[in-house]
Amino acid sequence: MQDNSGNTVRHPQTSLAVEGGKDGGGGGGGGGGGGGGGGEDFIDFFVIDSAADLINSARSDITSLINGHPTNLAAKFVRMAFHDCVGGCDGCIDLTNGDNFGLEEPIDMLDPIVVKFEHSGLTRADIWALASLEGARGAQANDDDLPFEMTWFGRPNCESTNVDDTDCVENDCSAKRGPHRDLPSPHLTTHELITFFNETFDFQEPWQTVAIMGAHTLGTLARENSGFQ
Ligand code: HEM
Repeated sequence: MQDNSGNTVRHPQTSLAVEGGKDGGGGGGGGGGGGGGGGEDFIDFFVIDSAADLINSARSDITSLINGHPTNLAAKFVRMAFHDCVGGCDGCIDLTNGDNFGLEEPIDMLDPIVVKFEHSGLTRADIWALASLEGARGAQANDDDLPFEMTWFGRPNCESTNVDDTDCVENDCSAKRGPHRDLPSPHLTTHELITFFNETFDFQEPWQTVAIMGAHTLGTLARENSGFQ
Protein backbone atom coordinates (compact mmCIF):
# COMPACT_ATOMS: atom_id res chain seq x y z
CA MET A 1 0.00 0.00 0.00
CA GLN A 2 1.90 3.05 -1.18
CA ASP A 3 -0.67 5.54 -2.30
CA ASN A 4 -3.91 6.98 -1.09
CA SER A 5 -6.08 5.92 -3.96
CA GLY A 6 -8.73 4.31 -1.90
CA ASN A 7 -8.48 0.63 -1.03
CA THR A 8 -9.89 -0.42 2.29
CA VAL A 9 -7.15 -0.64 4.82
CA ARG A 10 -7.50 -2.76 7.90
CA HIS A 11 -4.59 -2.57 10.16
CA PRO A 12 -3.50 -3.21 13.70
CA GLN A 13 -2.93 -0.26 15.89
CA THR A 14 -1.12 -0.35 19.16
CA SER A 15 -3.21 1.85 21.38
CA LEU A 16 -1.34 4.66 23.08
CA ALA A 17 -3.04 3.94 26.35
CA VAL A 18 -2.35 0.25 26.48
CA GLU A 19 0.64 -0.26 24.27
CA GLY A 20 2.04 -3.72 24.52
CA GLY A 21 -0.03 -4.52 27.56
CA LYS A 22 -3.38 -5.46 28.89
CA ASP A 23 -6.68 -3.95 28.04
CA GLY A 24 -7.29 -1.29 30.61
CA GLY A 25 -10.24 0.07 28.75
CA GLY A 26 -8.25 2.41 26.55
CA GLY A 27 -9.68 2.68 23.09
CA GLY A 28 -7.89 3.01 19.83
CA GLY A 29 -7.43 6.58 18.77
CA GLY A 30 -7.58 8.04 15.33
CA GLY A 31 -9.69 5.70 13.31
CA GLY A 32 -12.10 4.85 16.06
CA GLY A 33 -13.17 1.41 17.06
CA GLY A 34 -11.61 -0.57 19.82
CA GLY A 35 -10.60 -4.04 20.60
CA GLY A 36 -9.72 -6.52 23.26
CA GLY A 37 -11.31 -6.87 26.59
CA GLY A 38 -11.32 -8.97 29.69
CA GLY A 39 -7.77 -8.07 30.66
CA GLU A 40 -6.17 -10.20 27.97
CA ASP A 41 -3.27 -9.24 25.75
CA PHE A 42 -4.59 -7.86 22.53
CA ILE A 43 -3.86 -5.89 19.47
CA ASP A 44 -6.30 -3.09 19.01
CA PHE A 45 -7.84 -2.80 15.56
CA PHE A 46 -9.47 0.07 13.87
CA VAL A 47 -10.87 0.30 10.40
CA ILE A 48 -10.04 3.02 7.98
CA ASP A 49 -12.06 3.13 4.78
CA SER A 50 -9.25 4.33 2.60
CA ALA A 51 -5.64 5.27 2.69
CA ALA A 52 -6.73 8.87 2.27
CA ASP A 53 -8.73 8.54 5.49
CA LEU A 54 -5.66 7.15 7.21
CA ILE A 55 -3.64 10.20 6.23
CA ASN A 56 -6.51 12.50 7.22
CA SER A 57 -6.75 10.80 10.59
CA ALA A 58 -3.07 11.40 11.30
CA ARG A 59 -3.36 14.93 9.95
CA SER A 60 -6.24 15.65 12.27
CA ASP A 61 -4.15 14.55 15.27
CA ILE A 62 -1.36 16.84 14.10
CA THR A 63 -3.77 19.77 13.74
CA SER A 64 -4.99 19.22 17.29
CA LEU A 65 -1.40 19.15 18.49
CA ILE A 66 -0.60 22.42 16.75
CA ASN A 67 -3.77 24.13 17.95
CA GLY A 68 -3.36 22.96 21.52
CA HIS A 69 0.26 23.92 21.95
CA PRO A 70 1.39 27.25 23.39
CA THR A 71 4.39 27.68 21.09
CA ASN A 72 4.43 27.86 17.29
CA LEU A 73 4.69 24.16 16.56
CA ALA A 74 3.71 24.64 12.91
CA ALA A 75 6.91 26.57 12.20
CA LYS A 76 8.96 23.99 14.06
CA PHE A 77 7.44 21.18 12.01
CA VAL A 78 8.24 22.97 8.75
CA ARG A 79 11.84 23.61 9.84
CA MET A 80 12.17 20.02 11.07
CA ALA A 81 11.05 18.59 7.73
CA PHE A 82 13.62 20.64 5.86
CA HIS A 83 16.39 19.41 8.13
CA ASP A 84 15.10 15.84 7.84
CA CYS A 85 14.93 16.01 4.05
CA VAL A 86 18.47 17.20 3.46
CA GLY A 87 19.99 13.88 2.47
CA GLY A 88 16.61 12.13 2.33
CA CYS A 89 13.32 12.46 4.21
CA ASP A 90 14.01 9.53 6.50
CA GLY A 91 12.53 10.50 9.86
CA CYS A 92 15.94 10.98 11.42
CA ILE A 93 17.77 14.07 12.61
CA ASP A 94 21.14 14.18 14.26
CA LEU A 95 20.64 16.23 17.39
CA THR A 96 24.37 16.14 18.08
CA ASN A 97 24.73 18.43 15.06
CA GLY A 98 24.39 22.01 16.29
CA ASP A 99 22.54 23.00 13.12
CA ASN A 100 19.62 20.95 14.43
CA PHE A 101 19.43 22.85 17.70
CA GLY A 102 15.84 23.30 18.87
CA LEU A 103 14.39 20.37 16.97
CA GLU A 104 14.04 18.04 19.94
CA GLU A 105 10.72 19.65 20.87
CA PRO A 106 8.89 18.96 17.57
CA ILE A 107 10.34 15.43 17.49
CA ASP A 108 9.05 14.75 21.01
CA MET A 109 5.69 16.35 20.35
CA LEU A 110 5.09 14.13 17.32
CA ASP A 111 6.25 10.93 18.97
CA PRO A 112 2.83 9.83 20.32
CA ILE A 113 1.37 10.22 16.83
CA VAL A 114 4.29 8.29 15.35
CA VAL A 115 3.64 5.47 17.83
CA LYS A 116 -0.09 5.54 17.20
CA PHE A 117 0.24 5.12 13.45
CA GLU A 118 3.44 3.13 13.13
CA HIS A 119 1.61 -0.15 12.53
CA SER A 120 -0.74 1.38 10.00
CA GLY A 121 1.78 1.91 7.23
CA LEU A 122 2.60 5.50 8.13
CA THR A 123 6.25 5.69 9.07
CA ARG A 124 7.88 8.27 11.28
CA ALA A 125 9.22 9.91 8.15
CA ASP A 126 5.63 10.12 6.84
CA ILE A 127 4.35 11.70 10.04
CA TRP A 128 7.13 14.27 10.00
CA ALA A 129 6.40 15.10 6.36
CA LEU A 130 2.69 15.32 7.10
CA ALA A 131 3.33 17.60 10.08
CA SER A 132 5.25 19.95 7.85
CA LEU A 133 2.49 19.96 5.22
CA GLU A 134 -0.09 20.64 7.89
CA GLY A 135 2.07 23.37 9.39
CA ALA A 136 2.29 25.05 5.99
CA ARG A 137 -1.41 24.57 5.25
CA GLY A 138 -2.56 26.08 8.51
CA ALA A 139 -0.23 29.06 8.13
CA GLN A 140 -2.14 30.39 5.14
CA ALA A 141 -4.31 33.43 5.67
CA ASN A 142 -7.17 31.33 4.42
CA ASP A 143 -6.06 27.86 5.42
CA ASP A 144 -8.08 26.19 2.68
CA ASP A 145 -6.37 27.98 -0.20
CA LEU A 146 -3.84 25.24 -0.82
CA PRO A 147 -4.50 21.79 0.65
CA PHE A 148 -0.83 20.74 0.92
CA GLU A 149 -1.87 17.15 0.30
CA MET A 150 0.31 14.16 1.04
CA THR A 151 -0.17 11.93 -1.99
CA TRP A 152 1.86 8.91 -0.98
CA PHE A 153 3.30 7.33 2.11
CA GLY A 154 5.73 4.61 3.11
CA ARG A 155 8.90 6.71 3.36
CA PRO A 156 11.45 4.44 5.02
CA ASN A 157 12.91 5.58 8.32
CA CYS A 158 16.69 5.77 8.37
CA GLU A 159 17.01 2.70 10.60
CA SER A 160 15.22 0.57 8.00
CA THR A 161 17.20 1.66 4.98
CA ASN A 162 20.63 0.73 3.81
CA VAL A 163 21.88 4.16 4.71
CA ASP A 164 25.51 4.27 5.67
CA ASP A 165 24.87 4.64 9.37
CA THR A 166 28.44 4.33 10.49
CA ASP A 167 28.25 7.78 11.99
CA CYS A 168 25.23 6.98 14.15
CA VAL A 169 25.83 5.96 17.72
CA GLU A 170 26.97 2.33 17.66
CA ASN A 171 25.50 2.11 14.16
CA ASP A 172 22.08 2.49 15.66
CA CYS A 173 20.22 5.25 13.85
CA SER A 174 17.12 6.71 15.45
CA ALA A 175 14.82 9.73 15.30
CA LYS A 176 17.21 11.91 17.27
CA ARG A 177 20.48 10.40 16.14
CA GLY A 178 20.27 10.17 12.39
CA PRO A 179 23.21 10.03 10.04
CA HIS A 180 25.20 13.23 9.85
CA ARG A 181 23.96 15.61 7.15
CA ASP A 182 25.64 18.87 6.30
CA LEU A 183 23.07 21.65 6.59
CA PRO A 184 23.63 24.84 4.60
CA SER A 185 25.43 27.69 6.30
CA PRO A 186 23.42 30.80 7.17
CA HIS A 187 26.20 32.78 5.51
CA LEU A 188 25.58 31.56 1.95
CA THR A 189 25.37 34.14 -0.79
CA THR A 190 22.23 34.22 -2.93
CA HIS A 191 24.06 32.39 -5.69
CA GLU A 192 25.32 29.73 -3.27
CA LEU A 193 21.81 29.30 -1.86
CA ILE A 194 20.31 28.78 -5.31
CA THR A 195 23.08 26.32 -6.13
CA PHE A 196 22.41 24.42 -2.90
CA PHE A 197 18.71 23.96 -3.71
CA ASN A 198 19.52 23.01 -7.28
CA GLU A 199 22.02 20.36 -6.22
CA THR A 200 20.15 19.06 -3.18
CA PHE A 201 16.50 19.27 -4.24
CA ASP A 202 16.81 19.61 -8.00
CA PHE A 203 15.19 23.04 -8.00
CA GLN A 204 15.36 24.36 -11.55
CA GLU A 205 14.44 28.00 -11.10
CA PRO A 206 15.60 30.63 -8.60
CA TRP A 207 11.99 31.51 -7.71
CA GLN A 208 11.62 28.06 -6.17
CA THR A 209 14.40 28.88 -3.74
CA VAL A 210 12.87 32.27 -3.01
CA ALA A 211 9.52 30.62 -2.34
CA ILE A 212 10.81 27.97 0.02
CA MET A 213 12.98 30.40 1.96
CA GLY A 214 9.75 32.34 2.51
CA ALA A 215 8.97 29.60 5.04
CA HIS A 216 10.96 31.69 7.52
CA THR A 217 8.05 34.10 7.75
CA LEU A 218 6.23 31.35 9.67
CA GLY A 219 8.72 31.39 12.48
CA THR A 220 10.07 33.63 15.14
CA LEU A 221 13.71 34.55 15.57
CA ALA A 222 14.46 33.03 18.95
CA ARG A 223 17.55 31.63 20.61
CA GLU A 224 15.62 28.47 21.54
CA ASN A 225 15.35 27.66 17.82
CA SER A 226 18.96 27.79 16.75
CA GLY A 227 21.06 28.81 19.71
CA PHE A 228 21.99 31.99 17.86
CA GLN A 229 22.35 35.00 20.17
C1 HEM B 1 20.20 27.84 3.56
C2 HEM B 1 19.07 27.38 4.04
C3 HEM B 1 18.60 27.70 5.44
C4 HEM B 1 19.24 28.24 6.48
C5 HEM B 1 20.68 28.70 6.57
C6 HEM B 1 18.30 28.33 7.57
C7 HEM B 1 18.58 28.81 8.82
C8 HEM B 1 17.67 28.96 9.82
C9 HEM B 1 17.96 29.41 11.15
C10 HEM B 1 19.34 29.82 11.62
C11 HEM B 1 16.81 29.42 11.83
C12 HEM B 1 16.62 29.75 13.30
C13 HEM B 1 16.40 31.19 13.51
C14 HEM B 1 16.30 31.44 15.02
O1 HEM B 1 17.34 31.45 15.66
O2 HEM B 1 15.20 31.56 15.51
C15 HEM B 1 15.78 28.97 10.96
C16 HEM B 1 14.46 28.87 11.31
C17 HEM B 1 13.48 28.36 10.50
N1 HEM B 1 13.68 27.79 9.27
FE1 HEM B 1 15.38 27.84 8.22
N2 HEM B 1 17.11 27.85 7.15
C18 HEM B 1 17.24 27.43 5.85
C19 HEM B 1 16.28 26.85 5.06
C20 HEM B 1 15.00 26.61 5.44
C21 HEM B 1 13.99 25.98 4.63
C22 HEM B 1 14.23 25.47 3.23
C23 HEM B 1 12.85 25.94 5.37
C24 HEM B 1 11.51 25.39 5.01
C25 HEM B 1 11.26 24.44 4.18
C26 HEM B 1 13.14 26.56 6.63
C27 HEM B 1 12.21 26.74 7.61
C28 HEM B 1 12.46 27.40 8.81
C29 HEM B 1 11.44 27.75 9.75
C30 HEM B 1 9.94 27.51 9.60
C31 HEM B 1 12.07 28.36 10.82
C32 HEM B 1 11.41 28.93 12.07
C33 HEM B 1 11.39 27.92 13.16
C34 HEM B 1 10.68 28.42 14.41
O3 HEM B 1 10.37 29.60 14.52
O4 HEM B 1 10.46 27.58 15.31
N3 HEM B 1 14.44 26.92 6.66
N4 HEM B 1 16.31 28.68 9.75
